[in-house]
Amino acid sequence: MSAGAGQPGAEQPGAEQLRAGARRAWAALRPQLADEAVAVLGEAEADAFLARADLALHDVHEPLAVLYGDAADDLFARGLRAALAAAAERPEPLRRIDRRREIDPAWFQRARVQGYVCYVDRFCGTLAELPGRLGHLAELGTTYLHLMPLLRPREGENDGGYAVADYRAVDPRLGTMADLEAVAAALHEREMALCIDLVLNHTAREHPWAQGWLAGDPAYAGFYTAFPDREMPDAYDATIPEVFPDRAPGSFSWVPEALGGAGGWVWTTFWPYQWDLDYTNPEVTLAMAGEIAWLANRGVDVFRMDAVPFMWKRLGTSCQNQPEGHTLLQLLHALTRLAAPGVVFKAEAIVSPDDLVAYLGGHDRYRPECELAYHNSLMVLLWSSLATQDVRLARQALRRMRPIPPTTTWCTYVRGHDDIGWAITDEDAAAVGLDGFAHRRFLNDFYAGRFPGSFARGALFQENPVTGDARISGSAASLCGIEDALDRDDPVALDAGVRRLLLLYSVAYAFGGVPLLYMGDELALRNDSSYLAEPERAPDNRWMHRPPMDWAAAARRGDPTTLEGRVWAGIRRLGEVRRSLLALRGGVESTVVDVGNDAVLVWRRQHPRGGTFVGVANFSPHPQRIDADTVTGFGTFAQVHGSDGPLPVRDGLLLVPGLGSAWFAEP
Ligand code: GLC
Ligand code: GLC
Repeated sequence: MSAGAGQPGAEQPGAEQLRAGARRAWAALRPQLADEAVAVLGEAEADAFLARADLALHDVHEPLAVLYGDAADDLFARGLRAALAAAAERPEPLRRIDRRREIDPAWFQRARVQGYVCYVDRFCGTLAELPGRLGHLAELGTTYLHLMPLLRPREGENDGGYAVADYRAVDPRLGTMADLEAVAAALHEREMALCIDLVLNHTAREHPWAQGWLAGDPAYAGFYTAFPDREMPDAYDATIPEVFPDRAPGSFSWVPEALGGAGGWVWTTFWPYQWDLDYTNPEVTLAMAGEIAWLANRGVDVFRMDAVPFMWKRLGTSCQNQPEGHTLLQLLHALTRLAAPGVVFKAEAIVSPDDLVAYLGGHDRYRPECELAYHNSLMVLLWSSLATQDVRLARQALRRMRPIPPTTTWCTYVRGHDDIGWAITDEDAAAVGLDGFAHRRFLNDFYAGRFPGSFARGALFQENPVTGDARISGSAASLCGIEDALDRDDPVALDAGVRRLLLLYSVAYAFGGVPLLYMGDELALRNDSSYLAEPERAPDNRWMHRPPMDWAAAARRGDPTTLEGRVWAGIRRLGEVRRSLLALRGGVESTVVDVGNDAVLVWRRQHPRGGTFVGVANFSPHPQRIDADTVTGFGTFAQVHGSDGPLPVRDGLLLVPGLGSAWFAEP
């Protein structure tokens, strides 16, 4: 590990000093870089590149100075030259997209942007098959496709592709890089954007960087971290929460070949075969920036920045959400956008609400970081509200969140490929009279189906007997009670299950941000137990909610008498209405309002151009009355969506059916 990694180092330079340093370095570099740019890009493109560099200069140089001190000027020149080289290699069709997005930088905030998330193999087999399946996505209104990890992983266990052995190759089981480029082109032709995972906290131990480091190749010196004995690992582990306590306790793994064959404890936050990169080493940072730019030039529009909270370590802390981790993301972001200005980052930071907004650049002052971030808090609060039939906690926690920078937006979602971790703070719980620990335990019991009367069929993930913590696996449909109802052949329960699923999606589609539909939810696919027969997957029950696409079920989507038909029509309709509502654009925040009923979540958006929007979601199975005036704008807003048609008003009160939802908009 490099000297002083993650430790409070020497005196940090002040803001003015940083700014002056950046200006000095740029003044020294610019004339020569300008000539180089004209040579490789031509006059007009060079001018655009330099204009971007003029603007991004502080976003590149200051992070380098903060993270790497005296080496900053040299790294700055190298980083900019690498970005220039990537810009020069950028294919013409992608430059056109860049141009459009520079004109319309809020492209990802538009109401038409609507996501779909799937594994290529589970959805359609291979990348080559994908362009032929775009009809399914187009029918849903998809304009943003997140393909789950598809870069070449290690052989054997690979954490669902999150153990990457080569960033520049596609998993041969899914196809080739040329296939991926063809997919990107096919999506772009339909004005859809491509999102892929960038696993940057770690590589597979088989990655050439890791193998080079192990072999003592000086080019990879300091790429990873190893300690000769347990002293430091124990010191770090004392304050690091475990991600996978059951099969990968602690954050270090013994590697006999490490440290020149003497053996060492390698930093492995996740599984032992996922080795954490050491970003205190600027060579790692530049190498990763190079991989990102290269992938951007294949046609990737959005990078899902995996596990970003873990990238910078500091003794005596949780080793998550460290300020330097943010600085690092800002740097990677600025370098990427110099080469590929149309590309945006999405933070996968599944952290507490207090730590989340920073990933969108919301610090003491705004610093461009990620344009998108998973709204993990909203997701957790939806499931919590569904279990308790009470929205007080959601109201409290959502209201307390800091606003996000207006140039960024959320990804709102109900379910994904990971477990649900109950990111609810003790403070928010206490504010509504709950004990945080007891509430999280209740949610685990409830969704694992252990709580009396629970409709859910999930399972505990990574139960930690020491701390009492656990998370939840299970598909949205199964967690909503659909699996249980089908097994019991209970039509009333089935109806309630469908209503719950559509209720959650009605919030995700209208809370503000890019809604992400997780493959299978549009057809209410239930838990899948086939993973149990695969030895590499059996121990990881997150596979229960990663089912193969059921195309036979998909064929029933047009039949409203079937389960699939009901869910499909409901979700499709949400997308259709969403697209027509300017107020659902990003750039403004939703405010959660209290309408005098604790079972009903009501949120309001006031868009300067799109007018006012109000969303209503009743988490109780029983009809609820709410104050009509606060919701309908004293009768002036039109109801644009309703799970059960127009809501009746009686005596100034609006009657919301059990598990029903409605949207209102200023005409
Ligand atoms: C992310 C992924 C998760 C994976 C982890 C390690 O959180 O979503 O599936 O296990 O990173 O890469
Ligand atoms: C990542 C996610 C966390 C998840 C874990 C394993 O750390 O941030 O939420 O539990 O991966 O899936």
